[in-house]
Amino acid sequence: MSTATAITEQNPLGDIDQWDEFLAGRYQEGKSETEFRQYDAEANPGVAEFYRLNHQYQTHEYVLGKEKEYFGLTRGKKTIWEAAEFLNTLVDDSDPDTDLTQIEHLLQTSEAMRRDKQPRWMILTGFVHDLGKCLCLYGEPQWGVVGDTFPTGCAYSKDIVFPEYFAANPDSKNPLYQTKYGIYEPNCGLDKVHMSFGHDGYIYEVMKNYLPIESLYMLRYHSFYSWHRHGAYDHLCNEQDREMLQWVNKFNPYDLYSKGHTKPNMAELKPYYDELFAEFFPEKIDW
Ligand SMILES: [Fe+2]
Ligand SMILES: [Fe+2]
Repeated sequence: MSTATAITEQNPLGDIDQWDEFLAGRYQEGKSETEFRQYDAEANPGVAEFYRLNHQYQTHEYVLGKEKEYFGLTRGKKTIWEAAEFLNTLVDDSDPDTDLTQIEHLLQTSEAMRRDKQPRWMILTGFVHDLGKCLCLYGEPQWGVVGDTFPTGCAYSKDIVFPEYFAANPDSKNPLYQTKYGIYEPNCGLDKVHMSFGHDGYIYEVMKNYLPIESLYMLRYHSFYSWHRHGAYDHLCNEQDREMLQWVNKFNPYDLYSKGHTKPNMAELKPYYDELFAEFFPEKIDW
């Protein structure tokens, strides 16, 4: 059983992992900012088109609507394994023998943390961090599931990739949304900020009653690159956000660089993860 993704007008990526691969290239160690800017549109027309749609359609109003639609967690109860198996049904047309499944990608992230002797809650965070990509299976377009996230309702930072694409977003013509603080108070805290909608915000809502605050920051802001990699939007942050930034940064290399081609041995790893899930979660949680 699989949901093959076909390239369409709304979904220009062959599969959503192309966005992750683009990020790993963009933040390759030793590359300067100007170098990765050139690397962008020419080498990645599908990714550029994906960002064009993302920047055009992620309006503040769209975000509020999606928050209402998903943050109540009304899509049923699932165990972590069930959620992972569900995400695994999202596959593209590429060769199943050489390509890794979504579960295998998640295990590569968490296993890299485990090898580095990171705390158990962080290993767990590595495993669950991309489970929110199941939004694709609920019918959301790629530009509403993945992509760098950014605050809506205030001015766009020039540190967001492809900032020129925001010209097509209706919010860019709303003066209220185009001041530095927009609808927010100075240093109001990121919790008050309506981020562009995607898998980060959704998985945070699913996990927020179960995991420590450091983990929740990793989940909620792992795609907020203009903040955690470029230092933008400090004027919306409070002390807790600044304190937690170090954890988001600690998480990021595992997200970007842990994906290899060796298939994790599921049968061997399963008992460890069964125990890890049982330590933090009831059997089933709301999605
Ligand atoms: Fe992610
Ligand atoms: Fe990821």
